[in-house]
Amino acid sequence: MQASADSTDIKKLRVAIASDHAGFEQKTRLVAFLREQGLDVIDCGPEDDNRVDYPDFATKVAYAVVGGLADRGILVCGTGIGMAIAANKIAGIRAANVITPQMAALARQHNDANVVSVSGRFIDPDVNEQIVTTFLSTDFEGGRHSLRVEKIDALD
Ligand code: RB5
Repeated sequence: MQASADSTDIKKLRVAIASDHAGFEQKTRLVAFLREQGLDVIDCGPEDDNRVDYPDFATKVAYAVVGGLADRGILVCGTGIGMAIAANKIAGIRAANVITPQMAALARQHNDANVVSVSGRFIDPDVNEQIVTTFLSTDFEGGRHSLRVEKIDALD
């Protein structure tokens, strides 16, 4: 299935990003990648690869997004799973654990995901750059997906 409906000018987006120790290396790379393109990036940490607990950092990004400091959030842990589970506990967050650029497009088009969570251990950094670029540049399709997203939000 083809899924590419890029239309958002990503340079205008404010993005919050965080990782745990397992995602630190790729988080550092993604911060540089996004800043090189002129995005406003809030790095919510950590500042080194010492062992940390991923919920502490997932929630920093989640609160930045629901609080309006950031338009979108990016999370990186070993798998992307724990970060997504933690972020989705915060009302208003729709975090998607994504492993391909096509899934990133669909997370935006169908689910209006406002946070993407990626794997620092199992996904190549170049693929994660593509995932993040697609996630930031793809719009929600609305239409038949709107009521479904409203029903998700009603669960908060
Ligand atoms: C840390 O070892 C690992 O559990 C974490 O990065 C993440 O993969 C959890 O979902």
